[in-house]
Amino acid sequence: MTFREIYKSLRDLLRSASESAGTEALLLLSHVTGMTKERILLCFEDQIDDISSERILELARLRLSGFPLQYITKKCYFYGLELDIEDGVFIPRVETEVLVDLALDLIEREDLKTVLDVGTGSGAIAIAIALNSHCKVYGTDIHEKAIYIAQRNAKKYNAEITFLKGPFLEPVKGFLKEIDLVVSNPPYVSTSANLSKEVLKEPSNALFAGKEGIDFYRKFFADRSLLKGKDVIMEFSPEQVDHLREICFFGKISFFHDQFGKIRFFHVKV
Ligand SMILES: C[S@@+](CC[C@H](N)C(=O)[O-])C[C@H]1O[C@@H](n2cnc3c(N)ncnc32)[C@H](O)[C@@H]1O
Repeated sequence: MTFREIYKSLRDLLRSASESAGTEALLLLSHVTGMTKERILLCFEDQIDDISSERILELARLRLSGFPLQYITKKCYFYGLELDIEDGVFIPRVETEVLVDLALDLIEREDLKTVLDVGTGSGAIAIAIALNSHCKVYGTDIHEKAIYIAQRNAKKYNAEITFLKGPFLEPVKGFLKEIDLVVSNPPYVSTSANLSKEVLKEPSNALFAGKEGIDFYRKFFADRSLLKGKDVIMEFSPEQVDHLREICFFGKISFFHDQFGKIRFFHVKV
């Protein structure tokens, strides 16, 4: 079988699972053969060995069962960075890049020095901020595997970040005074939401936050005396905007849109 033939069968197979089946087919071919996409295109008429073609079809079946491509290739992309990712850790979304832009603007405007990323996952937000500012950055998560992957990603980019395991502000309570800005893309999906089988392969404690998806915000701001004087920027789901106005009644809350025109982020000074 040639590369062209396997590319075509893969692409046709993946059409039912993905809108970008051609790109995914090339990424899978590249993942299994270790060849770059450009090289594969140049070798389209060459024969692919049987072991690789069997492995590729096996992975295509996994992909068709709803397993995200990023968990198969163990790579994801965020803010121009290629990050490691593994099954069990949330896959960063392109919308969240705008949260990083908002944080970097505020850091520059207010000359902020220390940032905490709560629920850091793969470390995507923390690493993008550390590499694009002079801030000292901390990242926390309740999930051991997320901390491990975040540390690996930070090391890959020489980003000096301290990652700590634990819920909400608990891991940093000894030096909370030091922190100027808290950023977070927390779990904010309603438990009754109808999610695709692909999204459901991601860890549920990264996604769900109660009936209305607002449990994280409620708990986070419950003891806001700890946050006095700090800036907070978080991501949320558009239908939660009135809940957030109510939860953040204590301060001036501002809302911002994502790149698709949806209201998606808020800033509040506690
Ligand atoms: C939606 S994911 C975001 C991950 C990453 N910040 C990103 O944007 O790609 C939410 C993350 O918050 C973590 N998490 C959930 N509840 C938490 C809590 N109470 N305290 C700290 N982290 C939490 C999850 O383990 C998950 O990694």
